[in-house]
Amino acid sequence: MRELKIFGVVVAFTLITYWGVEPLAHSVFHPHVAPADYTYSDVDGLNGKKGDATNGAELVQSNCIACHAIESQGFAQMMDNATLSASYGVVPPDLGTAGKLYDENYLAAFIKNPAKASKIEHVFDDTKAHPMPGYDWMDDQQIADMVAYLQSIAPTEMTNKEVFTDACLRCHGIKYADFYGGSMNAKTTKSDLKSYMGKLPPDLSQYIVSRGPSYIHTFVNDPQKHLEGTAMPRVGLTQAAEEQIVTYMGEVGQSKKTERESLGVKVLAYLVIFAIFAWLWKAKIWRDLH
Ligand code: HEC
Ligand code: HEC
Repeated sequence: MRELKIFGVVVAFTLITYWGVEPLAHSVFHPHVAPADYTYSDVDGLNGKKGDATNGAELVQSNCIACHAIESQGFAQMMDNATLSASYGVVPPDLGTAGKLYDENYLAAFIKNPAKASKIEHVFDDTKAHPMPGYDWMDDQQIADMVAYLQSIAPTEMTNKEVFTDACLRCHGIKYADFYGGSMNAKTTKSDLKSYMGKLPPDLSQYIVSRGPSYIHTFVNDPQKHLEGTAMPRVGLTQAAEEQIVTYMGEVGQSKKTERESLGVKVLAYLVIFAIFAWLWKAKIWRDLH
């Protein structure tokens, strides 16, 4: 009877701990956030303007290639990554794929006001300017022209790795990917990146495991929803580009998954065979004893 009471008390405490504390802990560690918004409805974007790519080409060439390379159009980067890191805090991305990676309204809004569009105005103030100047002195038509040009030169297909490289690698390394050849260290020099962002962006090799795909989607779409006040800019990717990045993080972070699963089957087979032999052996010993 006494054992039964003790058992009852233990069960009660376990249930209270489980139902009382676990959902609370869950809501603290994984607060409910609104789903990702791939229309970027909050931004001051194209405002319905249709762009002219020919005019956009001239504008981009006279305003952007001082900092950004566009390799596919023959505009090579004039400085190496170390010099770029030291000059801007972070290596400016090649713009050859921007028209495919970013939502067009987000892209327009970013060109007008980078800190505002990427929701990091709290990081850049009067004492510390964003390294990319805003082009809100241009009219909406000129902005739309540049977006049209960037879209016209963007490739139609990109590998998952290319999408990750152009959207994230200037700040984040993903070093487990080195296994497949080539270095996937962050492009920006660590010390410069740290002073630019206030802290070093983490290596993303294992984030698919620790955070899971849905967290990564909502986080990239709007980091402030998860980590209020964080210096990581919102990266205004299209839904398709973001899918590719999450897939890539899975390919790198869980590359051993199939190997692990096939090993599990082998271990189980071994245990079954071993159990049969152990049983046969036991049966033999008992037979001899009787
Ligand atoms: C003075 C240098 C400079 C100039 C000029 C400049 N940029 Fe940038 N740009 C940067 C830097 C630095 C970054 C990276 C900022 C970051 O990741 O925090 C950047 C980032 C970007 C991005 C990435 C946006 C994102 O959300 O990741 C795009 C797109 C872009 N620039 C387009 C342009 C266009 C178009 C022009 C010309 C109208 C331009 N830039 C002019 C320095 C510059
Ligand atoms: C301009 C630099 C920059 C770019 C570009 C950038 N990040 Fe980040 N990221 C950061 C910084 C800084 C942090 C650290 C944030 C913190 O802890 O406040 C971070 C943190 C993260 C985290 C960890 C979040 C957590 O819960 O701790 C993930 C995941 C992440 N970034 C994914 C991405 C992906 C995917 C991309 C490309 C689509 C990307 N980031 C592009 C700067 C950047």
